[in-house]
Amino acid sequence: MDRLIIKGGRRLKGEVEISGAKNAALPVMAASILAAGENSIGRVPDLRDVKTMGRLLANMGAEFHYEPHRAVIKTNRIKNFEAPYELVKEMRASVLVLGPMVARYGRARVSLPGGCAIGARPINLHIMGLEKMGAKIELEAGYVKATAKRLKGATIYFDISTVTGTENLMMAATLAKGVTILENAAREPEVVDLANALIAMGARIKGAGESVIEIEGTEELKPVNHTVIPDRIETGTFMTIAGITGGDITIKGCMPEHLHAFVIKLEEAGVGFENKAGSVRVIGPARPGAVDIETAPYPGFPTDMQAQFMALMSIASGASLITETIFENRFMHVAELLRMGADINFRGSTATVKGVKKLKAANVMATDLRASASLVVAALRAEGETTIHRVYHLDRGYEKMEEKLRSLGADVKRERGKRLTSLP
Ligand code: EPU
Repeated sequence: MDRLIIKGGRRLKGEVEISGAKNAALPVMAASILAAGENSIGRVPDLRDVKTMGRLLANMGAEFHYEPHRAVIKTNRIKNFEAPYELVKEMRASVLVLGPMVARYGRARVSLPGGCAIGARPINLHIMGLEKMGAKIELEAGYVKATAKRLKGATIYFDISTVTGTENLMMAATLAKGVTILENAAREPEVVDLANALIAMGARIKGAGESVIEIEGTEELKPVNHTVIPDRIETGTFMTIAGITGGDITIKGCMPEHLHAFVIKLEEAGVGFENKAGSVRVIGPARPGAVDIETAPYPGFPTDMQAQFMALMSIASGASLITETIFENRFMHVAELLRMGADINFRGSTATVKGVKKLKAANVMATDLRASASLVVAALRAEGETTIHRVYHLDRGYEKMEEKLRSLGADVKRERGKRLTSLP
């Protein structure tokens, strides 16, 4: 298993280019199932999760080619309607093939994802929605089996705002008979990007980005030809890196408007921003001020930035409260930050972070994707050489992280370990 070794304490300066959004690319790749033919998706990041989605589509009979940064998916010969346990356990987003498969082929068998490092994360709302659209649902041997002659439009209310749930049902509704209304739908930019890709395929969708989405089903769609949006979480991570290193980083090819709540909180902490066309210059303070945050569905503070923000607050001049409201177990990074000298306590869903003057290098372990990013953020500020173990988590979601960091002047190296073929 690879390790990252980071010698902290440098002010990072320069320019960095943001990659395409993982969480936008994955649903658009799944949407290719909705049409027969050659689908072409641009700005797809070169990441392990993208490869996993490619393997899943290939396992179903599609042809998947990846040439950085374009994914070409030929969907003329889909013949296997299953997402097997081996792939779903590697990547929960595999569940995104459920809606498109039932909509286009009338059947799907998808392994239930089970819990993961950040929470229980059930898919009951995805299943409830498909059932409302007329699918017959059976649970057997850890799999959900959905069948339907043709899905029919329905009004579906989500008790909880769910990103992939909204995406799955929006895709399913594009080929259903009649109109589907999704209420309390997720409003994340990735949902809007998927809706734009579907509209370009011929789907009739109104209201994506608002809490009520209306989809009028059609008989047929044409293949996808779409370029995905820049990754807002990678953008936010580099903003935090500028913040914690007292750096001066120009982040190019990004859409800071997708991070409005997050940027406001960084500004409150003393981070400076200069907007330019298509890029933003971020200037870190000598020491950030303490700021409280609470995660919330978009347009609130993103849960995917909570861990990195906590790393920043660990050296703030004062105490901050960090409340996680989306996932029940998303404080796994706390124990690792403590190893680096941070002063953090948590009870339930709120952590109290008392800023310390200095973080110190240590051996730390990545437990999930964004927790790994928080350890990178902390290590860049820490005194000495931090070793981050299990960086395969980071590789799932950050393209060429260490190359990008090095180009900004960071002292980072990767030590190669034994290759992992499958994740625990
Ligand atoms: N939930 C249910 N039932 C469902 C679906 C969701 O109870 O049927 C709950 C979840 O357990 C959670 C909450 O609803 O407590 C929100 O989860 P959501 O469904 O929105 O999460 P997701 O769609 O599984 C996506 C991203 C995550 C990101 C969350 C929240 C993708 C592929 N994944 O997950 O990204 O944290 O939305 O914004 O889009 C990451 O990239 O590191 C990552 C974890």
